[in-house]
Amino acid sequence: MATIQMKVSPEDLSHVPQGKERVPEPVIMTIFGASGDLTKRKLLPALYHLEQNGLLPSKFHIVGVARRPLGDEFAADMREGIVEFGGVESNDPKLDEFIKKVSYFALNFDDPGHYAALKAELDRLASENNIGNNRLFYLATSPEFFAGIVENLGAQQMAHPEQGHVGVVIEKPFGHDLDSARELNHQVNSVFDERQVFRIDHYLGKETVQNILVFRFANGIFEPIWNRNYIEHVQITAAETLGVEGRGPFYEKAGALRDVVQNHVMELLSFVAMEPPPSFEAESVRREKLKVWQAIPPIPILNAVRGQYGPGVVDGQRVPGYRDEERVDPNSGTETYAAVRLEIENWRWAGVPFYLRAGKRLKKRATEISIQFRQPPLLIFNRMASSGPCSDIQPNLLTIRIQPDEGISLRFGAKVPTSPEMAVCPVIMDFNYSAAFGKSSANGYERLLLDAMLGDQTLFAHRDGVETTWSLYTPILEAWANKVPEVFPNYFAGKWGPECADRLLERDGYTWRNNLGKPE
Ligand code: BG6
Repeated sequence: MATIQMKVSPEDLSHVPQGKERVPEPVIMTIFGASGDLTKRKLLPALYHLEQNGLLPSKFHIVGVARRPLGDEFAADMREGIVEFGGVESNDPKLDEFIKKVSYFALNFDDPGHYAALKAELDRLASENNIGNNRLFYLATSPEFFAGIVENLGAQQMAHPEQGHVGVVIEKPFGHDLDSARELNHQVNSVFDERQVFRIDHYLGKETVQNILVFRFANGIFEPIWNRNYIEHVQITAAETLGVEGRGPFYEKAGALRDVVQNHVMELLSFVAMEPPPSFEAESVRREKLKVWQAIPPIPILNAVRGQYGPGVVDGQRVPGYRDEERVDPNSGTETYAAVRLEIENWRWAGVPFYLRAGKRLKKRATEISIQFRQPPLLIFNRMASSGPCSDIQPNLLTIRIQPDEGISLRFGAKVPTSPEMAVCPVIMDFNYSAAFGKSSANGYERLLLDAMLGDQTLFAHRDGVETTWSLYTPILEAWANKVPEVFPNYFAGKWGPECADRLLERDGYTWRNNLGKPE
């Protein structure tokens, strides 16, 4: 297939503001559950990148909190994480200075007495480093501790100091179903005001996800055709080649629908489907997203399918089936793949099917959105009798590649040169992020951590949004929990998921777009 690459001139980039005006006020960031992987692999590398870019306040301190009695080894471990996962040179001269701002505090999450000691420690660090009363609490523990931590912070008057700003960042999963999400929201909001709460979904920190809004609302030519009159259907895929990576006990309770569809995929859907907000302010953006989710009618159970991988070959390597993964029930009924068909009942989208899918151990790692446009009302050019990509006139397809190979491509038909029959062949106009702007090392957490420190909630989930998406998926999860699938495993690792997912689209005359990634 022919492709045309678009480039952005490097001179244009030199005028882009680098965001120095967005440096937060001095703050102590306390990470609960700091001995887990997230802190070392994502949070500390992201914080260090912010430091390198001059986006952290000079008066800043990070306190890792977990149950294990760690001392200075915590800071040393974080240093290793920054080097290994942040792509930083070990002898980077600024790194040792930064690591001096990292300390550790051992705490039993459900022991109220320990929180008084934590408060005293934070006050001591604040006065020693002249930081004042601003605090950001990051909850990266196992979710069952979220409510208790919040309650204890409240009991120690750490949520509302007399002076200074306090925020709480809460990792996903935010609840397990509608009732638990409501209860957690209630517990969190009985201690913190909603404007202090940052429910994180790292997809919203991805540049390509934010770019969906820029693509739609900073360009004049797409929005007029961004509706049911021109769009036939939309597919959103979050495909991973990885398995559960040692997270068996967590994943057994989660499954693909809870782990990825209810949050990451629904965020992508809201950005594709929302109305233009009046501004890029948190309230405006969140309101429009919520309206999308609220316009989705209950999803019939027949429009949701699940799968579980058996053994297979991924990227040339033999891999075990899900039931043979470490600490997974050998008869597990947990889905490692989920797909749904839903509709959005509003003037823009009525009648346009949206197909969403997410799965582990699939053929290729790719998160993509593809928007298939309607064909012209009359096809005046001959279809060619031959086979191959030019055998049929294909509808226009806009593909937004969230990761990897980040970019956007548009497929359209072009006349095959020298063809006297006016043969039409699809060609692709492709915008590739790294070719245009250079490779970005940002992992999504940088932007979100910075925003949380600045108190900007635009890219965080709101309580109403979380409850609305859970209300859509809880009936499906309940129906699935009540009926153990007889046919699991139903797809081989390294394939594109179970056959029942293909049938979900075949009913409407479509197929999944599996030719994902950079156009060849
Ligand atoms: C996490 C899920 O939220 O997102 C993981 O818990 C999943 O199971 C991950 O692998 C995917 O994130 P990314 O950024 O690699 O697409």
